[in-house]
Amino acid sequence: MGKVYLKIAAVYFTLGVLMGITMGIIQDYRFASIHAHTNLLGWVSMALFGIIYHLYPAAAKSKLAKTQFWLHNIGLPLMTGAIVFEVVTGSLASLPVAIAGSVAVVLGVILFMINIFKYVGKES
Ligand code: HEM
Ligand code: HEM
Repeated sequence: MGKVYLKIAAVYFTLGVLMGITMGIIQDYRFASIHAHTNLLGWVSMALFGIIYHLYPAAAKSKLAKTQFWLHNIGLPLMTGAIVFEVVTGSLASLPVAIAGSVAVVLGVILFMINIFKYVGKES
């Protein structure tokens, strides 16, 4: 679980900085919010999940961790993808997808919190 998170985090980091440098070069900041969340929910949060699950293997093995993994990894691309669509087309048609993706991420964060409370400190 920890290793997969670190690999996915590294991919989001690469995408995030490529997006940042592209915005700077072409001087178009419409994607700043997508860049910010790609870096913060993709790179920073997932790198933290990876390190935390490496430190606390009992938490990494739980059903809560697995469910949160999928909520985060399905929710984040839906959330960012839908906002890219909104920025590019100027249409709010993808708003429900952005909301569904965001809700999935938030639900995952709640499961992460429960997982941390349940298993951290219970290492043998
Ligand atoms: C080579 C790496 C990066 C480049 C070239 C870059 C570039 C940029 C640019 C051009 C903006 C828009 C600034 C504006 O709207 O005035 C921006 C915004 C932002 N970046 Fe980056 N960025 C990089 C890496 C990162 C990383 C690693 C993070 C987080 C871990 C990050 C977080 C943010 C945030 C939160 C904003 C939004 C700031 C705001 O709305 O005021 N960036 N970045
Ligand atoms: C499901 C989770 C999240 C949702 C739905 C969300 C939503 C939002 C929204 C709607 C904005 C305003 C965007 C704008 O003004 O264009 C925003 C801004 C921001 N959020 Fe989040 N956020 C989430 C998670 C996070 C996390 C985990 C972090 C940091 C670790 C973060 C950092 C920021 C920052 C730095 C800004 C201001 C920069 C910008 O986007 O222009 N967000 N967020």
